[in-house]
Amino acid sequence: MPTFKPQIPTIVDPAGVPPGNEPRPMGTTTDTSRAEFVEETGGTPRVDFDSTSNPYIDYQSIDLLLTLQHPRSDAYDETCFFIMGQVKELLFKSFHFELHNARHLIRGDQVSDAMLVLDRSLEIAKLLISTWDVVATVSAEGFNQFRDHLDEASGQLSFMFRHVEFILGNKDRHLASAHRNVPHVWPHMKEALDSPSLYDEVIAMLDRRGFAIDPGALDRDWADAYPPDESVEQAWFDIYDDPSTGNDLYRLGETLIALDEQMALYRWRHFVLVSRIIGYKPGTGGSTGVEWLRQTTEFRYFPELWSLRTRLES
Ligand code: HEM
Repeated sequence: MPTFKPQIPTIVDPAGVPPGNEPRPMGTTTDTSRAEFVEETGGTPRVDFDSTSNPYIDYQSIDLLLTLQHPRSDAYDETCFFIMGQVKELLFKSFHFELHNARHLIRGDQVSDAMLVLDRSLEIAKLLISTWDVVATVSAEGFNQFRDHLDEASGQLSFMFRHVEFILGNKDRHLASAHRNVPHVWPHMKEALDSPSLYDEVIAMLDRRGFAIDPGALDRDWADAYPPDESVEQAWFDIYDDPSTGNDLYRLGETLIALDEQMALYRWRHFVLVSRIIGYKPGTGGSTGVEWLRQTTEFRYFPELWSLRTRLES
């Protein structure tokens, strides 16, 4: 347990950060203007700016971003926990953006383009898993030093994580409803709950590609949990009959199961880490804690891609 207290360096004076979260006005440059610029600077980076900001700060509102870290205690480990939580939210957002676009591309039968986007999603999933290495440096005692300050805050209330779950296909009305009271979040959450997931769109695409998919898998209440379907498993089984790189649907199946595997590892890592940090204590979000998390580790987004493997013969 850290027995020492944190020294928190001041990096930005929050009083000077421009208000609002709109993109800040800025110009553009071109190859020609950049070539002229380097002539002007003599090849050394520019360090004189007329305004009270600079283009790097303005492009991504970096000063605003770096004033959003507010640990609630003087426990040493809280700053790491706090920042890693924000880093993960940004990674969930990046992950969700790629999955949203993969779904759009699949809807338009652009399988190769969707694969490009899914390959990146896979790398983001791996990065998400590796963030647990940093969180795992928080000891049980270190966490106890600030846990009370979380109040009822819990990752289960992450609307960004819920969007990731929903676009991949893990629909849950109960967990979605936690956001009903947040007017700037709920309409988008409700829309995500009621829309076909990436996997629902893959199944519709398999139907368009001539596989005999059960009508029940093509038109259902999208807010319901996905029920594994025999016709979908049969379609994948037929696709896996030609496991060649020229078979785009086979490659898609392998990418999807790799993504499912990474997310299963993500959940497992969180579950084991939580067991190590809080044992069998209840969660801050009202669940039993590790017992509740244990059942999430068994979830798979694309069940037929797992079950079909039992049928593959040597
Ligand atoms: C000290 C580290 C952590 C502990 C002890 C912990 C504990 C827990 C517990 C007990 C739950 C079950 C729900 C409840 O609170 O009752 C939970 C859920 C969750 N936690 Fe953590 N957590 C930790 C770190 C994190 C971090 C850094 C994130 C990233 C944002 C995170 C994201 C989540 C998510 C998304 C869920 C919901 C899982 C699902 O719906 O499948 N956790 N956590």
